[in-house]
Amino acid sequence: MSELPLPPGSTLGILGGGQLGRMLALAAARLGFDVAVLERDADSPAGRVAAHTIVGPYADPDALETLAAVAAVVTYEFENVPADSVLILQRLGVEVAPGPEALAVAQDRVAEKQFLNASGAPTVAYSSADTAEEAVAATAQMGAPVLMKTRREGYDGKGQRWVEHPADAAKAFADLGGGPVILEAPADFVRELSIIAARGRDGATAIYPLSENHHEGGILRRTLAPAHVSQALAEQAERIAARILSGLNYVGVIGIELFEMKDGRLLVNEIAPRVHNTGHWTQDGCAVDQFEQHIRAVAGWPLGPTEPHARVEMLNLLGDEVDAWAKLAHEPDTRLHLYGKRDAKPGRKMGHVNKLHPL
Ligand SMILES: Nc1ncnc2c1ncn2[C@@H]1O[C@H](COP(=O)(O)OP(=O)(O)O)[C@@H](O)[C@H]1O
Ligand SMILES: [Mg+2]
Repeated sequence: MSELPLPPGSTLGILGGGQLGRMLALAAARLGFDVAVLERDADSPAGRVAAHTIVGPYADPDALETLAAVAAVVTYEFENVPADSVLILQRLGVEVAPGPEALAVAQDRVAEKQFLNASGAPTVAYSSADTAEEAVAATAQMGAPVLMKTRREGYDGKGQRWVEHPADAAKAFADLGGGPVILEAPADFVRELSIIAARGRDGATAIYPLSENHHEGGILRRTLAPAHVSQALAEQAERIAARILSGLNYVGVIGIELFEMKDGRLLVNEIAPRVHNTGHWTQDGCAVDQFEQHIRAVAGWPLGPTEPHARVEMLNLLGDEVDAWAKLAHEPDTRLHLYGKRDAKPGRKMGHVNKLHPL
């Protein structure tokens, strides 16, 4: 076990080399840490700003051993880290945060819904199916339309199909690959909100104000934060966040996606056991952003403040929208965050801007 709080000069490991890993690595470097990134791709956004890159699959025992030899604490930037990788690292004496409970819950949409409902964090009604016949029966029983999602590995709206009639469920099931699915009742929401929260090793929590999120084609386009919400709604969200954090014995930052319903209730859509795209506004809206907060939490440091000092409009730069960087760099009160990705494929997250407004 490593010394906690982890002193500056220590090395922190990150599984995953994308933009979230990059921004975590930058925050860690600012606190005096060295970062070791484990990533398949030798030329990754995170690897290019880290002290060390270990190139290999996340499940490769040799790569994990190399990581364990340099890093005292390991975290991750995406929730599909193999459970065995965490076990291997723990066996090698490395602290992994957030822990395996959070990963297990976030990797399986059914386990996630079960956990949330048991914790007093309400969700839409749902059922699950492992075969096409079960999917048809479950759709008939719930009443169409339902949203069918793969239980595992969906992101940015991928791995989802609306089913308008029970008879269409078999085709949707096949289209999604024929693996286990969840069927969700439609949430007739008025807004999508999210809350970014953190829990430290001592159980202390820090919760940022709610943000309002707009998606297009399943991909986040825009976040407005702090969202305009009533005190009652803010308190409802904080209660939900606190229950989730303690229920998972969580260490680190978590992103909790919420549906705001007409009657003022909040339902939890999903949780991400990591820093979250809807929390990027904190980089320019708060003294301690979600990335530094996550590093503080996993390194056993005290958590930082979450009060906003600006209202922020965060816009994702997708695909060739990033070509506008020179124009954006001229705009006052706009902060540009670019991920250093080489290929601007359509829909790919290449960067974001935070446009600052007075509170
Ligand atoms: N049950 C639902 N009812 C209505 N819309 C939904 C439901 N579930 C998801 N969505 C919409 O689809 C988007 C992506 O779904 P989500 O479960 O968050 O998957 P992902 O892992 O791809 O982010 C949500 O942000 C929301 O706009
Ligand atoms: Mg989502």
